[in-house]
Amino acid sequence: MNQNSRYGDGPVDVVIMAAGKGTRMKSSLPKVLHRLGGRSLVGHVIDTAARIGARHIVVVTGHGASDVESAIETAMPGFAPVFVRQVPQLGTGHAIQQAAPVLPDDGTVVILSGDVPLIGDTTLRALVAESAGRRLALLTIRLADPTGYGRIVRVPGPDDDEGEVQSIVEEKDATEAQRAIDEIYSGVMAVPARMLKTWLARLDNRNAQGEYYLTDIVGFATIDGVPVVAHRTDDLLQVSGVNSASQLAALERALQLRQAEALMAQGVRLADPARFDLRGTLACESDVEIDVNCVFEGAVSLGAGVRVGAHCVIANARIETGSVIHPFTHIDGDKVGVTVGAGSLVGPFARLRPGARLGPEVHIGNFVEVKNSTLGAGAKANHLAYLGDATVGERVNYGAGSITANYDGANKHRTVIGDDVHVGSNCVLVAPVTLGPWSTIGGGSTVTKSTPPGTLTISRARQVSFKNWERPKKAPKD
Ligand code: UD1
Ligand code: CA
Repeated sequence: MNQNSRYGDGPVDVVIMAAGKGTRMKSSLPKVLHRLGGRSLVGHVIDTAARIGARHIVVVTGHGASDVESAIETAMPGFAPVFVRQVPQLGTGHAIQQAAPVLPDDGTVVILSGDVPLIGDTTLRALVAESAGRRLALLTIRLADPTGYGRIVRVPGPDDDEGEVQSIVEEKDATEAQRAIDEIYSGVMAVPARMLKTWLARLDNRNAQGEYYLTDIVGFATIDGVPVVAHRTDDLLQVSGVNSASQLAALERALQLRQAEALMAQGVRLADPARFDLRGTLACESDVEIDVNCVFEGAVSLGAGVRVGAHCVIANARIETGSVIHPFTHIDGDKVGVTVGAGSLVGPFARLRPGARLGPEVHIGNFVEVKNSTLGAGAKANHLAYLGDATVGERVNYGAGSITANYDGANKHRTVIGDDVHVGSNCVLVAPVTLGPWSTIGGGSTVTKSTPPGTLTISRARQVSFKNWERPKKAPKD
């Protein structure tokens, strides 16, 4: 049988090790649940495993197992990884031993770490191809400072001065000469399941750390005459692990810079790629400009020519062509989304909450909050106002300081404002209430009843002035 053709594109099963404690994070949150680019470390890895078409994704959990498992299930519905528990944690080899029973013999196993989040699918595909159903393929990298990593030990061959990979030796077990080796094991490998299982059965913990080292299987491969290939990468980001808050922050900046470069390559103009944060996906049409210190979360799309001012936070929203979001605006569509129609002006200091649906050419000014409300074309609320659970017609002018009183303490009610209505300053619209088209509400009114179209409504005490009014006087001091 031709093994290459049989295994070349055979099934791939992924095991993600995520049982370790992550002591150096100094956090009560399990390490793999810390966030990078808005999603958990292990979430990135699971996503990559899915992208290479993994048949099974096995996650080995231990420390904080139930938290890790439920966080994955909530964040990634439909992924259904297989969870395997490793208690206690006796090393990476022991972790994979726990996974072995759920790994079918016919697959290639790709081993990943839950704390190495930016491993790429292209790299993994190349590693699987190198393994080819009959080799042990290791992902390695040369580091200026290899301290702490397992070193790749080679024996020089007759016509190959670099030599064949013979084993991996862990830092704590390495001789002085071995510590000088600058090629290290990244923690990622591809190996035929059948071979992996026989080697796992031979592991012991007679080493400096008293652990079952997965890396000992490399020595067994050599003994068994199975070829070991080192697939060397030069992309440090892909093999960078997270062990501390400082490393997490460094990786976050590196990821952000990579995302910023990708957007700029599409023509997005970022004022400063070092002051840009994307924690989700950002789809941009042409000629989008984004000023400094903006944060984008969830799924955001920006239409052609959209400009976003400095210090905006925008989550789960669609901003249509030509709109301008002025500085310090907070938009959060959460699960239902926010839409800003073409040519709208929002902010500075505006807040759009879930279900805000602005039509074209809408103006939302400073300190205006909009929630679960639809605004028709050309509607304006320019200063200090609240619109909640409202349907606002076209060309409505909503005065400064006006609010919809949409909540009676138990239920939310709707306010309907017809086309061309003018609401004066400092009005309270007590919902449910409907303002007919072209109606005008005098400033300071509290409106509790619906108004007929085209009327002027004033609901406040008539102004009275008393002549010869004497102010109270203070009693003279003695
Ligand atoms: C491991 C490798 C080392 C490599 C390095 C790359 C071994 C013995 N050594 O070392 O050659 O250079 O990764 O980063 O494999 N884990 C478990 N259960 C355990 C122990 C660990 O699930 O019992 C998980 C950890 O949560 C982590 C991963 O395995 O996700 C790696 O464990 P870690 O302790 O970081 O291994 P290193 O000592 O760094
Ligand atoms: Ca590590």
